[in-house]
Amino acid sequence: MHPNERQWEQFYEKVKGKTGLDLFQYKPDQLRRRILGMLEQKNAANLDEFWATLSKTPDGATWFLDKLAINVSELYRNPEKWVEMQEAILPKLIRPGRGLKAWSAGCSIGAEAHTLASILESSFPGRHQIVGSDIDQEALNQAKSGLYSDADMKCVPNEIKAKYFLQEGAKWKAKSEITRHLQFKTGDLLSDRFDTGFDLIMCRNVVIYFTDEAKDRLYRRFFDSLRPGGVLFVGSTERIFNSKDIGFETNIPFFYTKPAEGDQQWRSAS
Ligand SMILES: C[S@@+](CC[C@H](N)C(=O)[O-])C[C@H]1O[C@@H](n2cnc3c(N)ncnc32)[C@H](O)[C@@H]1O
Repeated sequence: MHPNERQWEQFYEKVKGKTGLDLFQYKPDQLRRRILGMLEQKNAANLDEFWATLSKTPDGATWFLDKLAINVSELYRNPEKWVEMQEAILPKLIRPGRGLKAWSAGCSIGAEAHTLASILESSFPGRHQIVGSDIDQEALNQAKSGLYSDADMKCVPNEIKAKYFLQEGAKWKAKSEITRHLQFKTGDLLSDRFDTGFDLIMCRNVVIYFTDEAKDRLYRRFFDSLRPGGVLFVGSTERIFNSKDIGFETNIPFFYTKPAEGDQQWRSAS
């Protein structure tokens, strides 16, 4: 079936009314392919019938959001970037006597948050707080459990695995030394108000699904949520082409720094 534009719009409105998620801000091609796949799965003949099926059960909307989310992730994803994080970014970000305040935005199963926690605990021990947020409840449940498969763990350095994870049957469970820094919660990047004062925001492999306008708005909101000197870490295919317009500086690809107050004064005086 091929819904027309009006039918898609009506469906998006219903989703927004029920879940708050604004599908107008996602790129249509991939989004619609996924939704049509779900229609087939539910044997629904059209979007109206699909919506009626979802509305029949209390967890229909949650099922829809979980299915919609592509939450492929793994610990130490793009390992070379985590080496840069450890050697070049964190030593500058961590301030004496203060814990790091970090956010994994679109955290999925919590792999990125656990990766950062393990690096901090092994190399920069302190009272760090890392919050992970996502729209996908099932992925968040896994993040909270701290349980990972061999495949999720394949890039984790051996010494980190041995020190901070315990084998439980076929899974690896994160130890409290790293989970004590972590907190996971439901959050929609397109509509929530953001906390402020972050030293580090990680948003990787999330905006690929968003329209260009939604992406631009989000990066500007991340800029506002960082403290001066804070860093935004994005995915390895997600270079921010208008980063200078937003106000970011970048020396290492995919890490964007909000200039510290002194730097801004220097720039505006020159
Ligand atoms: C591919 S995963 C990325 C996980 C992790 N950041 C990484 O790079 O390994 C993308 C995640 O973005 C989440 N997501 C999509 N739209 C979102 C939104 N509007 N607000 C919050 N999270 C969203 C999905 O639920 C999914 O878990």
